[in-house]
Amino acid sequence: MGKFLVEKCGPLSGEVEISGSKNAVLPIMAAALLAEGRCEINDVPALRDVDVMCRLLRSMGSVVTEDYENATISIETEKIVAEEVPYELVKRMRASFFVMGPLLAKTGRAKIAQPGGCAIGERPIDLHLKGLRILGAQITEGHGYVEAVAEKLHGGKVYLDFPSVGATENIMMAATLAEGVTVIENAAEEPEIVDLANFLNKMGARIKGAGTDTIKIEGVEAMHGTRHTVIPDRIETGTFMVAAAITRGDILIRNVVPDHVKPVIAKLVECGVVIEDTDEGMRVRGNVNPLISTDIKTLPYPGFPTDMQSLFMALLATTEGPSVVIETVFENRFMHVGELNRMGANIKIDGKSALIPGQRKLLGAQVISTDLRAGAALVLAGLTAEGVTEVSEIYHIDRGYEKFKEKLNGLGAKVSRIDD
Ligand code: EPZ
Repeated sequence: MGKFLVEKCGPLSGEVEISGSKNAVLPIMAAALLAEGRCEINDVPALRDVDVMCRLLRSMGSVVTEDYENATISIETEKIVAEEVPYELVKRMRASFFVMGPLLAKTGRAKIAQPGGCAIGERPIDLHLKGLRILGAQITEGHGYVEAVAEKLHGGKVYLDFPSVGATENIMMAATLAEGVTVIENAAEEPEIVDLANFLNKMGARIKGAGTDTIKIEGVEAMHGTRHTVIPDRIETGTFMVAAAITRGDILIRNVVPDHVKPVIAKLVECGVVIEDTDEGMRVRGNVNPLISTDIKTLPYPGFPTDMQSLFMALLATTEGPSVVIETVFENRFMHVGELNRMGANIKIDGKSALIPGQRKLLGAQVISTDLRAGAALVLAGLTAEGVTEVSEIYHIDRGYEKFKEKLNGLGAKVSRIDD
């Protein structure tokens, strides 16, 4: 399934451009099912997950054209011909479940394989289903599938026990065509929610409050096609910020929304990294001060993002002094610890906490990616580890990072790829 060979490199330098956000473009593509007419989406990253979503939409009857030269795709769905999403697609990408809301709102029926768990946790969908039931859907579960049926969805008030990103997105999309007003309380506040809401409003939806914990959606009769440019990927941004820090380098990152990476900036500055927001982009210098450790606790936005946890842990293995990383969002997101320890990190896990001694000279080793962020963290660790680090199962990384090897090598890294 492919591997990266990562050689120890010197401090990274130069410029890198951030691609469009994976976690914004996937729900936006699903939302295009709601439009009568054509949607054109720009700044689309060329990722495996985007390719799977294109195939999924085509299986429902959408005409999808992909033009990655111009980072653009267009989606037009004259008629939805299938309301079922097979397990083959859902098991490859749990974000397939985002079509539940749009399908239900548009056709009155959706039958989708349950996503099941993954390496980082059980990943339940109870909050998605709770919200759709409140909007009037009859939901049955069985044989690994969820079927939702509704003559016409109606508004309602949904309280999310946890500010789930996916549940907020699915319910928000379903509510756009429901009769009446829907209020989602304790909603997720991630920038990807705001980007989706902006896209839906351009299609004619009436959504207010996205980005806060209370979102109000006034149902409309129909929605039309539109054109939209996806926000930059804040996790890819954070990844390259950490790459500059872990190699003690000095890089310029283009196409960044600083507001979206505030917690990552704050924690890197605590470590002694110098970060400057310039007209050309964000300059990140890990070579000004000796880098010291700091503690991390992952939380829903605007807290420190769980998707940055493994990446920051790789950095903390090399900074001066002990630190504690607490993962509160997913129950099993420390799979990368064992792999970092194969490189000499000497990290100990105690429940939801990982204790990192720091100041380690990491040594290259053969390690395995367990999810896309863990894989990226191991590559970053390899940039500073003595010798060569072989990171396998890198299809995980292909899911969420566009041209990862090329972008790193453009900054002076020495990464090569061997495909099976
Ligand atoms: C989205 O996943 C992202 N994926 C994840 O990014 C990200 O880690 C996560 O949000 C948290 O920020 C996409 O946007 C495609 P959640 P999602 O629902 O929506 C619990 C990556 O690396 N929960 O916010 O699945 C759940 O168990 C990926 O790009 C319920 O209990 O995340 C978890 O503990 C990994 N019931 C917590 O909420 C539900 O019905 C957060 O899950 C739904 C979720």
